[in-house]
Amino acid sequence: LSASADTHEEFLQCLSLHSPNSTSISKLIYTPNNTSYLSVLNFSIQNLRFTSPSTPKPLVIVTPFDESQIQAIIYCSKYHGMQIRVRSGGHDYEGLSYVSDVPFVILDMINLSSITVDGESKTAWVESGATIGQLYYRIAEKNKTLGFPAGVCPTVGVGGHFSGGGYGLMLRKYGLAADNVIDARIVDVNGQVLDRKSMGEDLFWAIRGGGGASFGVILAWKVNLVTVPSTVTVFTIAKTLDQNATNLIYKWQHIAPKFPEDLFIRILIRRVNSSENGKWTIQASFNSLYLGGISNLIPLMQEHFPELGLTEEDCTEMSWIESILYFAGFSTGESLDVLLDRTPLTRQYFKAKSDYVKKPIPVFGLEGIWRMFYEDEGELAEMILSPYGGKMDEIAESAIPFPHRKGNLYKIQHLVYWNEEGEEVSQRHISWIRRLYSYMAPYVSRFPRAAYINYRDLDVGVNNNKGNTSYAQASIWGIKYFKNNFNRLVQVKTKVDPGNFFRNEQSIPPFSAWW
Ligand code: FDA
Repeated sequence: LSASADTHEEFLQCLSLHSPNSTSISKLIYTPNNTSYLSVLNFSIQNLRFTSPSTPKPLVIVTPFDESQIQAIIYCSKYHGMQIRVRSGGHDYEGLSYVSDVPFVILDMINLSSITVDGESKTAWVESGATIGQLYYRIAEKNKTLGFPAGVCPTVGVGGHFSGGGYGLMLRKYGLAADNVIDARIVDVNGQVLDRKSMGEDLFWAIRGGGGASFGVILAWKVNLVTVPSTVTVFTIAKTLDQNATNLIYKWQHIAPKFPEDLFIRILIRRVNSSENGKWTIQASFNSLYLGGISNLIPLMQEHFPELGLTEEDCTEMSWIESILYFAGFSTGESLDVLLDRTPLTRQYFKAKSDYVKKPIPVFGLEGIWRMFYEDEGELAEMILSPYGGKMDEIAESAIPFPHRKGNLYKIQHLVYWNEEGEEVSQRHISWIRRLYSYMAPYVSRFPRAAYINYRDLDVGVNNNKGNTSYAQASIWGIKYFKNNFNRLVQVKTKVDPGNFFRNEQSIPPFSAWW
């Protein structure tokens, strides 16, 4: 304990010494002695698994207002052997932006969240601490026919989200958020502030999908905005097993990845009580964004997916920005201002995993999943099936580190939630989702069994947080997230951070740190 206290005192002295304006930096620092320390720490934490008293806590939280303060934080953390965890939106599934088992400081980007939209060039600069909801709001404020293809939940931070890929309901038309990044500003391990030109194309490639936390502190992104029609259409149709859900899902697998790219229909699957007899059933909600009006959507659905029985009454026309509220679960008529609020919408205990599907899962395979959902832990479990195809098929696997392109029909996100605190309940739910994951093995991608880094899952492999990590050890998780791009990520890391200062349980290791 005393060693930590010393480190923390020395770190604070170093910060005041190396900050251009030392009076102001003291206002950005929270230590366990501050009354607001816990509320600042917990503010953006999404996963309650990492809020227990036994979760390792940072010695210091720093919330900088400008880049010179970030340079001082990097310098002093290096000098005093403290690890840095950079946090933007705090939505990391495994808490890597705010938990570490070695002495560490949280660099919280919350105060660096300005957004400048240029309607003429159809571009925007967005600082890492902003949320995607704030970005969407500022774009729509400028021009209702511009949008951006990022995630669904408005409180996700652009710092982590874009650096891991970032997808939402426009992915079949425009690809990932990271596919639409055209410049970035980053502070490297030497405290230098670099943009695309000065960082070079290798590092710029790596931070668009390779996970920012391995390479430096990303200050801001410049993105290309995309065109959205003035009217889009949304619908959600829920079908239970009695209403032919299994066959509809089976059919969907064949057709959803081939729909015209303006049409995105995902499926949310969970267990519910049947309204007919009160018994458990599986409910599949077909949840869709169509980039156009109802009059075009209905004939399209009649041609491609008549079995779903979509009618005009199921559909609602709205603006693209209103559809953001719809998919985030807000009621109709809610003010767009809710997008500016970064308080997480829900907080639960959860564990998630991801899978990619290359061949349709047969009906008996789906029925085996339903049986698992009928177990106790299936009560609050969910599977989200997101179709690929369209633009995702056109982008090369090596264009950015995110490699899951042509050949993938859809991605699955497996989730299990619970509401009670405690190790026993948590282990029970985690072991349930691990069993579900084992059950899925014959039906999903193999060699590697691919995974999405933004759905972080430490079960797929980890580094040694306290020592060196071999290539063999890191490639266990690295190949799953990045396939062949993993090797190039290691080369970039070796060039920009050979001493492996920016590290976590799933950061890219440099060659020099290999055994
Ligand atoms: P957080 O701040 O926790 O950071 C995540 C990782 O990035 C950490 O390793 C962190 O150190 C690093 N990092 C953060 N900021 C950095 C910076 N400025 N410089 C360098 N490294 C930085 N995904 C998706 O693709 N589509 C979706 O629709 C959703 N929806 C969704 C909903 C909910 C409720 C959750 C909890 C998560 C999602 N996600 C998602 C997953 C999301 O994309 C993923 O968790 C992102 O990494 C979150 O980014 P944050 O900045 O919020 O996370």
